[in-house]
Amino acid sequence: MIVCASILNQTLEFKPMKILLHIDTSARFEGSDSRRLSQRFVRTWLDNHPDTRVVERDLASKPLPHLDEEILAAMMTPANQHDPHQMAINRRIDLLVEEFLDADLVVIGAPMYNLGIPSTLKAYIDHIVVAGRTFAYTEKGAQGLVADKPVYVITARGGVHAGQPSDQQTPYLQTLFNFLGIHSVNFIHSEGLNMGEAMRAQGIELAHTEIARHAA
Ligand SMILES: Cc1cc2nc3c(=O)[nH]c(=O)nc-3n(C[C@H](O)[C@H](O)[C@H](O)COP(=O)(O)O)c2cc1C
Repeated sequence: MIVCASILNQTLEFKPMKILLHIDTSARFEGSDSRRLSQRFVRTWLDNHPDTRVVERDLASKPLPHLDEEILAAMMTPANQHDPHQMAINRRIDLLVEEFLDADLVVIGAPMYNLGIPSTLKAYIDHIVVAGRTFAYTEKGAQGLVADKPVYVITARGGVHAGQPSDQQTPYLQTLFNFLGIHSVNFIHSEGLNMGEAMRAQGIELAHTEIARHAA
């Protein structure tokens, strides 16, 4: 009986690992600020939440193709009519959708390129925004199918844009994740990185403070 009680206690104490999906997008590897900062977030998170498993997705070293006619045809053809090539395309989409749905939290390192997100991140978004899986259109309009979870977007910018029309990253990603059903979207901006040493140091310092706060 004592053995049973001890097993029961162990079972009750078992906590499933949380899954952190870490996405990096900078085309740079050496010297990338968004990579350094997103890695700092993940390390800080792990220090504070050791019951976390990290899944890495690097969209620069393993870029996804941009949508083209073949991919769209594969997405729109009923499963029982897929040819082998369309099966492979849909397997890739399924894997990415499952990986995104399985995550308990998502951390994205995103440099600003020409006021927006890197095209590698857009290609990723085009793979995970799938009707019937991550959103649906109903009689009342669009409905997100993803359970709410925290998404942390860590940007790196040469200039200063937050709160201005030139910031096309924040409104786009905020609206996109809301569209999927995710409302806990958090932005950590590092700005002014190409505006001289003092501005750069201030931008990095602010980002470090925000990372410490969010990943605590
Ligand atoms: C192709 C390209 C476009 C950029 N466009 C902008 C921009 O529109 N606004 C801005 O503030 N910085 C811009 N930058 C500067 C980067 O956002 C900045 O250097 C940032 O640190 C890059 O992120 P990374 O260090 O992770 O590579 C651009 C840099 C590159 C390479």
